[in-house]
Amino acid sequence: MKIVVIQGPNLNMLGIREQNIYGAMKLEDIHNQMKAVAEQNGFDIEFFQSNLEGEIVDKIQECLGDADGIIINPAAYTHTSIAIRDALRAVQLPTIEVHISNIAAREEFRKKSLISDICAGTIAGFGPFSYHLGMIGMIQILNEIKMMKEAQAKQNG
Ligand code: DQA
Repeated sequence: MKIVVIQGPNLNMLGIREQNIYGAMKLEDIHNQMKAVAEQNGFDIEFFQSNLEGEIVDKIQECLGDADGIIINPAAYTHTSIAIRDALRAVQLPTIEVHISNIAAREEFRKKSLISDICAGTIAGFGPFSYHLGMIGMIQILNEIKMMKEAQAKQNG
């Protein structure tokens, strides 16, 4: 089974941008940690980062038939992008929303996420560790789906 991790604008600047909010870890280090956890649990994983809304929409669409679950931090597009919301609804894959900062405790314009209600769950506020928690959640969801499919296959003989 395959997990695709999608990262929105300015997340390529982690480790440089606003360290007091987003921490000192680089995106590459976060991804290396996620990869290790995915592999330990028998999952394939792919990473994608873009500063462009349309490229993120394209990547979500490509997940159809290719991925089993999506972990996404749409960054600033969380608060503005109906296009990303619509793409997630279109592919209908289990999705976990991740934020490094606690968006509920920041400026008013960050409190509203346009994707929270269509995600299986949201993790926010744990710094770069949010991604690890998101991975654990996704592995749990995919293991449950796998077990259900196996039970169904057994029933059907
Ligand atoms: C963010 C929160 C967003 O409001 C912000 O625009 C980001 C990062 C987070 O991970 O905390 O770029 O998604």
